Amino acid sequence: MITPQWTIAHKVSLHFVRYIVDGVGVDIDNRETTRLRIPGGGWDVKEADSELGTSLSDGVVLVDALTVRDVDAHWAGEDEEQARRFGWYPRRSTIEQVRTFVLETERQWRESGPRRTWAIRSALTGALLGGCEARLSGDRSADVSWWIFPAHRGCGFASRAVRLMVRYAVDTLAVRRFVAFIEPDNLASRGVARNAGFAELELDTTGDRPVLRHELVC
Ligand SMILES: CC(C)(COP(=O)(O)OP(=O)(O)OC[C@H]1O[C@@H](n2cnc3c(N)ncnc32)[C@H](O)[C@@H]1OP(=O)(O)O)[C@@H](O)C(=O)NCCC(=O)NCCS
Repeated sequence: MITPQWTIAHKVSLHFVRYIVDGVGVDIDNRETTRLRIPGGGWDVKEADSELGTSLSDGVVLVDALTVRDVDAHWAGEDEEQARRFGWYPRRSTIEQVRTFVLETERQWRESGPRRTWAIRSALTGALLGGCEARLSGDRSADVSWWIFPAHRGCGFASRAVRLMVRYAVDTLAVRRFVAFIEPDNLASRGVARNAGFAELELDTTGDRPVLRHELVC
């Protein structure tokens, strides 16, 4: 079993690291968070029901629940950059660890858990491009993170998907504050946050590596 490098200061990514690398659950029965759910909510984007949650699209990307059908593509898409940013480099997730992560993702959707992980897909082909995640807390805030597989970076996909995720979380999960912690040299991720309307706040140096706190209040 791979042990994650906990030295990285990606607070926003810790749940992701634990699920994907350890395959263990963390605080998944947060009932306070579950009560935050508000049914309904309007959309000015394409919306369709899916098996697990809502599917949203702006015509270029489609954001819906990550499912076991995505395991192979998700595993194949992981690269060194993703492993570095999420803290487990030089190790790589095994396919079984990805499967465990995705199965837990499905359970979180089914049971309205605090971790909501979306697949980011091409609206045109349905191909898996990456993912994004919100971890809800009981105070209407959520820590968020995102990833795009290397072949699809630099096309604006993460920015589009994060905007959709934010809309979903505001309208359906009653989230009001989104927080992302991003390493200063991760210009692409800072760009995503900027494009999605996050404000870049202070440098947090309490972890082993400094991270810029980003916030979006809706
Ligand atoms: C961060 C990541 C998700 C960005 O995905 P992406 O789809 O390539 O991002 P976008 O295309 O939406 O680009 C967002 C902005 O960053 C800019 N950008 C993208 N890559 C860049 C790079 N390598 N250097 C500088 N700026 C970059 C884009 O130009 C865009 O800004 P603009 O709209 O002002 O031109 C992707 O690089 C990734 O998966 N990295 C590994 C995992 C990771 O770091 N996750 C975030 C952890 S905090």
